[in-house]
Parts: sequence; structure tokens; C-alpha cells
Amino acid sequence: MDRDEAPARIVASELDAFGVATTVVVADISDNAAVTSGTAKVEAALGPIDILINNAGWDSLRPFLDNDEAHRDLIIDINLKGMINVTHAVLTRMVSRRHGRIVTISSDAGRVGSSGQAVYSACKAGTIALTKSIAREVARHGITLNVVAPGPTRTNMMAEALEGDDAAAKHILERMTKAVPMRRMGEPEDVAGIAVFLASDEASFITGQVISVSGGLTMHG
Ligand SMILES: NC(=O)c1ccc[n+]([C@@H]2O[C@H](COP(=O)([O-])OP(=O)(O)OC[C@H]3O[C@@H](n4cnc5c(N)ncnc54)[C@H](O)[C@@H]3O)[C@@H](O)[C@H]2O)c1
Repeated sequence: MDRDEAPARIVASELDAFGVATTVVVADISDNAAVTSGTAKVEAALGPIDILINNAGWDSLRPFLDNDEAHRDLIIDINLKGMINVTHAVLTRMVSRRHGRIVTISSDAGRVGSSGQAVYSACKAGTIALTKSIAREVARHGITLNVVAPGPTRTNMMAEALEGDDAAAKHILERMTKAVPMRRMGEPEDVAGIAVFLASDEASFITGQVISVSGGLTMHG
């Protein structure tokens, strides 16, 4: 499920290559009605949803004072409300089946803050608190919820800062990357592996945890 068809089709075609059945649903996760009908379409096509990866997210790197109300609301709708909508939509049926894995892609920004990403960081912190709280509520039903917290990662979300002509965004991204002890941005593959593990049976006794994938950017005791 994605608000744009193109990225969803790319994921589907990669999965097709492994013989995995897929269906593409276009929905804006900040729209609860669209999420409800979208998850129903997925289940009608593929059967019950056992694994949810809350991956959709968005931000643009800019100082807090440069965000007007519409921009602030948009960031909250996508990064926090969206995660709540989708998790709520799938959880009832996971509880009734007594099985489910929910992995949310948050951000190290939600653990320690990030200059140029204030509202986004607050949302990502919210996804961590939601994960821990819901994990406590549903653990006895055999459902786990965990968080992967990437640092700056080379994806489309960073394309404007990497390739565009916004000098302020470039500066923010350079500072972020310099703060990474391994001195590089993450790659999508760095993040994918841990999400797969957390969704697997091997991780069945792990819940409410946050795992950073950020080259040592944050180290929590
Ligand atoms: N790239 C980074 O540096 C970085 C760092 C930390 C966390 N993250 C998180 O990783 C996750 C994946 O992002 P990415 O970096 O791969 O960026 P991306 O832009 O490549 O992927 C995000 C996807 O979310 C989809 N999306 C955005 N808003 C949506 C909405 N309202 N409804 C449905 N789909 C929507 C986009 O269409 C896109 O396909 C996000 O949650 C992001 O916050 C990224």
C-alpha cells in the first residue's frame, strides 16, 4: 500500500521475482477510510495480514521556524496519524487470529532529536511510544511490535537534499552524516535485513524494542 502506484509496483515486481503473491493498493495512510478499504482489499486478494511493515513516511529538511501550519500538519498526518491508522486497521484481526508481527520504521531522530527535523522527530518518537504501548497490550495474544530506527539513509526521501539545489537541506544532511561514527549514510539494504528478522519466527520473543540502524549514531544502554 502506497499513496503512489509507482513505488508500490517496484516492490511488487521485486517480490514477483521470488514467486511471492502481491497486490498493489493505492491509499493515503493519513486517510483512515482509505486505509480501512485498502487493508480490506489486501486481505481479499491475499488472505489475512500476518505481517505489517509501517514504512511510509516523509519529511523535508528545514528549520522548525520555516514550517508553516499546513506543512507541520502534513508531517504529522503522514508520519504519526498514518502509522496509527494502519496499525489500528490490521490489529483487530491479528488479535482474533492470535498472531501478528508489526515492524515500524521510525528514525533515530525520534530517539535523540534532529536539527532540521523537529516535527518529524516528534512523530517518530510518537511511533516508538505507540509501539511500546500497543506491544504491552497485545503481547499475550502472540503479537509483537518492534521499531527499526534508521539514521540518514540514501533513499528517495533524501533525494532533494542529495541531488536538489536546496543549500540549507544539503547542509543539514552533511551535518547529520558527519555525526555518524561510521561516516556514511545508510543504504536501504542496511535497514531491510533487520525488518525481515523482526517479522520472522526467530524474533517471536522480542517485542517493544527499538533497534537503531545508523552506523553508531545513537548508542543506548
Ligand atoms: N531516508 C532516511 O534518511 C530515513 C531515516 C530515518 C527513517 N526513515 C524512514 O524510513 C521510512 C521509509 O522512507 P524512505 O527513506 O525509504 O523514503 P521513500 O520516500 O523512498 O519511501 C517512503 C514511501 O512512503 C510513501 N508515502 C509517503 N507518504 C504516504 C502516505 N501519506 N500514504 C501512503 N504512502 C506514503 C511514499 O510514496 C514512498 O513510497 C519512512 O518511514 C522514513 O521516515 C528514513
